Amino acid sequence: GAPVKVNISKVEAGQQIIAEWRGQPVFIVRRTEEILANLPKIHDRMADPESKASVQPTYVDPVSRSIKPEILVLVGICTHLGCSPSFRPEVAPADLGAEWVGGYFCPCHGSRYDLAGRVYKAQPAPINLPVPPYSYETDDVIVVG
Ligand code: FES
Repeated sequence: GAPVKVNISKVEAGQQIIAEWRGQPVFIVRRTEEILANLPKIHDRMADPESKASVQPTYVDPVSRSIKPEILVLVGICTHLGCSPSFRPEVAPADLGAEWVGGYFCPCHGSRYDLAGRVYKAQPAPINLPVPPYSYETDDVIVVG
């Protein structure tokens, strides 16, 4: 499939947009300072915290899993059986519990991921959400693929 250009200029801090690449949803999130500060704090709760067994390009940071820390780009397909996880950035919502610091929740079998797409330990999903190949054409335009 051809690369897809996505303009991210209107994505506000803490928000997600969903693009499409090769028939797959691509999640793009503008992460806040608070979200980024949380990632190292929950490192020990992750199954593959540095994505050693997960899919991501070599040029992304191993923990933030991105080129620029604030912009997260993920393939939005659960690594268990392929459902599309829900973006749940809120902290401690009633249905996800007091420990929840924001992330992705897969509605099919309950896999939990953080806001770097890293899967928590002991989930049905074995590895992190994939990071697709991407680059910046300009500060506002990402090219996926
Ligand atoms: Fe996501 Fe099973 S497909 S938990």
